[in-house]
Amino acid sequence: MNLRGRSFLTLKDYTADEIEYLLSLAKQLKDKKSKGILGDSLKGKNIALIFEKPSTRTRCAFTIGCIDEGGHPEYLGSDDIQLGHKESIEDTARVLGRMFDGIQFRGFSHDHVEKLAKYSGVPVWNGLTDSYHPTQILADFLTLKEQFGKLEGLNLVYVGDGRNNMANSLLIGSSKIGINITILSPKSLWPGGELINLCKEYAKTSGSQTTITDKVESVEGADAIYTDVWCSMGEEDLAAERIKILKPYQVNDDLLAKTGKAHTIVLHCLPAVKGNEITYDIFEKYSSVIFDQAENRMHTIKAIMVATLGN
Ligand code: CP
Ligand code: NVA
Repeated sequence: MNLRGRSFLTLKDYTADEIEYLLSLAKQLKDKKSKGILGDSLKGKNIALIFEKPSTRTRCAFTIGCIDEGGHPEYLGSDDIQLGHKESIEDTARVLGRMFDGIQFRGFSHDHVEKLAKYSGVPVWNGLTDSYHPTQILADFLTLKEQFGKLEGLNLVYVGDGRNNMANSLLIGSSKIGINITILSPKSLWPGGELINLCKEYAKTSGSQTTITDKVESVEGADAIYTDVWCSMGEEDLAAERIKILKPYQVNDDLLAKTGKAHTIVLHCLPAVKGNEITYDIFEKYSSVIFDQAENRMHTIKAIMVATLGN
C-alpha cells in the first residue's frame, strides 16, 4: 500500500484497509524496536512539531519516532514562532513547507491544520485539534488488537464528553473499521448530527453498529470502556458545570459491573483526572493496558510518518 505524500488530518480521509495497513506497520515497527533494531526510513527528513497546546505523549512519540528512523524533529512551541502573533497560518505553512519535509500540528482550530496541509505542500499530521485526535485512535486500535486479537465485532463504549475530539475520532475510526461503538453521554454533550449520520453510513459498509445514548445500562456487553477528561484543553473554565452533568458517567466499579462481562478492559487516552472521569481504583486496576495504550502512541505515530514520508 502506498500512502506517500498523504496528510493525516482525520480518519475520514482513510479507508478501513489503509487504517489496517498503518496498524500492521506499527506492529512491525514495535517488534523491530523491541529487538533493538532502528531504521533509516526518515534519514535526511526534517520534521516540524508545532504545539499550541501542551503534550507529553504526542510530542514524545513524534520526537522519538522520528529519531528512531533517522530523521530530525524540531519542536516549535507557540511562544517560539510567529504563528498566532505576527504571522498567518497560510504564510507559516508556506515557509515551513520550504524547509521541512513533514509537519505535525497540535492546536485549537481544525481549520488551521487543514490550511497547513493546503499551503505547505508537505504531509501534515494532526496531533490533536479541538475537533479530532486521529493519531490517538491508531494507538487505541493497536491496543485493542493486542488485547482481543481482532477489531471487527468488538463492542467499544466511550463514556463522558461525547462531543470532544476523542469521541468524534473514536466514532469515525470505529464505524470505519467495524467496531460497534457506543457514545454514552448526557444529551447536551452528544456528537454533532452531521458526524453521527456520516458514521452511520461508514458503519453500514463495515457492518457495525453506532449508538448514541445517555443510558448507562448501554455498557452491557462492552469489551472495552473508554473515557477521557471531562474538560479538554482550553475548556478548563467549564469544570463546575461538566462535573455536575458528567458525575453519573464516571468509570467506576458500578459502571464496570453493568457490562456483565468478566473480560471488559478500560482504556484512557491520558492525561487522566482521577476522581472525575475515572476512579483511582479502576485506573490502577487497568493501568497496565492504559500504559500499553500510551506506549503504542509511539509505534503508531512512527508508522504514520514512515508510511507517508519514509523512503
Ligand atoms: N493522549 C495524548 O494526546 O496525550 P498528550 O496530550 O500528552 O500528547
Ligand atoms: N480531549 C482531550 C484529549 C487529550 C489527549 C483534550 O483535548 O484535552
